[in-house]
Amino acid sequence: MKPFLAPFSGIVADYPPCWFMRQAGRYLPEYRKIRESAGDFLVMCYTPDLATEITLQPIRRFGMDAAIIFSDILVVPHGLGQPLEFIKGYGPKLEPLVDEDELNLLNVERMVAFLHPVYQAIRQTRAALASHIALIGFAGAPWTLLCYMLDGNGKQDFVRSRTAIYEHPKLVERTIALLTHAIIEHLCQQIEAGADAVQIFDSWASHVPATHREMLVYQPTRMIVQALKARYPHVPVICFPRAIGAHDVQHFDNYVQPDGLSVDYTTDMAALYSSISPSVVLQGNLDPLALMASKEVICAQARALVQLMKGRPFVMNLGHGVLPQTPPEHMQALIETIRSGSA
Ligand code: CP3
Repeated sequence: MKPFLAPFSGIVADYPPCWFMRQAGRYLPEYRKIRESAGDFLVMCYTPDLATEITLQPIRRFGMDAAIIFSDILVVPHGLGQPLEFIKGYGPKLEPLVDEDELNLLNVERMVAFLHPVYQAIRQTRAALASHIALIGFAGAPWTLLCYMLDGNGKQDFVRSRTAIYEHPKLVERTIALLTHAIIEHLCQQIEAGADAVQIFDSWASHVPATHREMLVYQPTRMIVQALKARYPHVPVICFPRAIGAHDVQHFDNYVQPDGLSVDYTTDMAALYSSISPSVVLQGNLDPLALMASKEVICAQARALVQLMKGRPFVMNLGHGVLPQTPPEHMQALIETIRSGSA
């Protein structure tokens, strides 16, 4: 069995498997080189040979237990028909969705056809990866995608989306429903193409007011998890409801029932150890900024976390993505520490 998948069968090995969010990206010189010649981020996402190569780069260098397909959560709104560009030094920019007439133009079949290169990249990556390394597919959660779709960018704390909850409840409700359907399709396509597991990123879940978390976070995510489990019972589904807090993570776990919970670095793992059902695989949650410190500090942080999680199914990861300023040799030191057994 692939070491990454073992915890999802309840197997606890001598040391946990590891992969890292944004393990492919700007901290790697070989990524920056491709970025330079491709020019555009979306060209890299939609060119299967490039997406495959970038996915494999961190695996070649460090040998993590899982690769995550190089893509982005915003390919879903793009595929549905919303104009998107990535501007260097600025980030993603979408033409904000203003009303239900515009929503009516978005189309899930169009998305599946449009995202064919992503599924092709998964096929190629699976074929190129060693058999003991897992391949993770992913999608953004409905709320996080809605945030970018209604605001158009991530620069204003998603005030438009958060106001729309009260001002345009029908638009919000219908956008969430469409996205739930689109995300299920996108993840099924990725599994059919060869993804061994999938992760759902809800990066902005913490922005949802308590009164609306049921409607905008828990319910739609549960629908996605249930739809995937019905079709692919053996494919682990991991959720990342970022920064919702230890209390809400527990409710999320009970209600959504994912196979894995990816925990952000603000949430206390010790609290979750006893409050989250033992069958759920916890994943996380080193602070990406800890990778900026000395190797000694990185080793100490990693050892403490591995020690804390001893005896329960666990996947070592960060509590958010690898930062561009991370020295690659610090990633190396982290992985060596996890695998040293003395951890
Ligand atoms: O983790 C991986 O290695 C797989 C690839 C991946 C990317 N984005 C590549 C990427 C994944 C899983 C994502 C998820 C993603 N994308 C999220 C959810 C996770 C999180 O970070 O909270 C979000 C919110 C996005 C949207 C997005 N994509 C933003 C806001 C930005 C700009 C900010 C930035 O870091 O540049 C991106 C760009 C992006 N996505 C890059 C990469 C490697 C950087 C592109 C570049 O080279 O300039």
